[in-house]
Amino acid sequence: MATLASPLSSSSSTSLPPTAEAVVRAYTERHGVAPTVLARAPGRVNLIGEHTDYNDGFVLPAAIDRDTWIAAGPRDDLQVDALALDESGADDHFPLSATPPHFPGGGWRDHVRGTLAQLVPLMARPAGMNLVISGDVPMGAGLSSSASLALGLLRAAQRIAGDSALTGKQLARLAQQAENRFVGCQCGIMDQLASAEGKPEHALLIDCRSLDTRPVSLPEGTALLIAHSRVKRGLVDSAYNERRAQCEQAARALGVPALRDATLEMLAGVKLEDKVFRRARHIITENSRVLEATEALQAGDLPRLGRLMKASHESMRDDFEITVPAVDQLAALLQDVVGHEGGARMTGGGFGGCCIALLKKELVPKALEALERGYRSPEGLPALVYLCEAGPGAKAESWPWPAGTITA
Ligand code: GLA
Repeated sequence: MATLASPLSSSSSTSLPPTAEAVVRAYTERHGVAPTVLARAPGRVNLIGEHTDYNDGFVLPAAIDRDTWIAAGPRDDLQVDALALDESGADDHFPLSATPPHFPGGGWRDHVRGTLAQLVPLMARPAGMNLVISGDVPMGAGLSSSASLALGLLRAAQRIAGDSALTGKQLARLAQQAENRFVGCQCGIMDQLASAEGKPEHALLIDCRSLDTRPVSLPEGTALLIAHSRVKRGLVDSAYNERRAQCEQAARALGVPALRDATLEMLAGVKLEDKVFRRARHIITENSRVLEATEALQAGDLPRLGRLMKASHESMRDDFEITVPAVDQLAALLQDVVGHEGGARMTGGGFGGCCIALLKKELVPKALEALERGYRSPEGLPALVYLCEAGPGAKAESWPWPAGTITA
């Protein structure tokens, strides 16, 4: 009788990144059999277009080459067993249901419960599953580790159920619903859609009303440098939902379905509380900047891109008020190094987190040196730097997963 190669045996035709190997190994140890499915979903970095997504506007993120990996296998009951290697091996066990209970204290368990709950009503044959999760998307940095977890879970669960009818866009919507309905953050669709549809060497222009996406190639010879201020951010506890409410208030006052439909002229014609006026001005100007930045990227016009990224940062700082002093300092430092050959700004929801710099590759050592010399967090720590490439969107494969396909 032929012996089947195990997912980790030397005869396996795959060569997996260490995190993928770790989840496959831990799965095999915990369940005594190898996983049948391996899923991967990336985090994202946003080049420009902040808080525009829930205003039906435009964003320009890229999926990054940092992923959540999930080893999964079927169960013969309708239970879910989940193990999170990055949470000191914490686990969770719950019935697969469209209305699972919240886990006391929430955290990663609520992301797992809430995400699978969105999929259950759409499954032709709901199937219980075992899951082992780990990843290298930094957590709490604004690089969408939770969206990558959700997309990885959805891709894995679909494979286990032998059901792959849902598109990346539909899965992104389910992942967003999990955040909105279960976790309690009124986030938009950007993170989930970037994780679902990312493309190597490209950013993704997303129209958050139609959900149309267009890959925009990143200029040759440039790098994506992400610098974490080490100021931790928390979406649910932060003023994120408040910003969203203010935008909706402005849209109502302007008589438009969403701020996507508003112009600066319209804004000048209504009487709004100063704060709400400035929130709306950020969204209106930021939407234009995204479209202009797309043109600049396509034309390889780095000076123009740099000006737009700087203006975006200033608008987030002064109008939307979502930056903190440490992040302002980090952005200024990066803008200084990048000069006219690219741009830098805060990226993500705000209130801490990271700055993104798109810069010429040869400037990377100079940027690292400037960060080391010029930046310390409020606790006196240096910035954490992630040099990333734009990577592929979420994917799941069944064993034997064909060499290379899961990471491409
Ligand atoms: C978070 C949310 C996104 C988006 C950004 C800000 O990442 O999850 O939907 O609103 O903040 O651009």
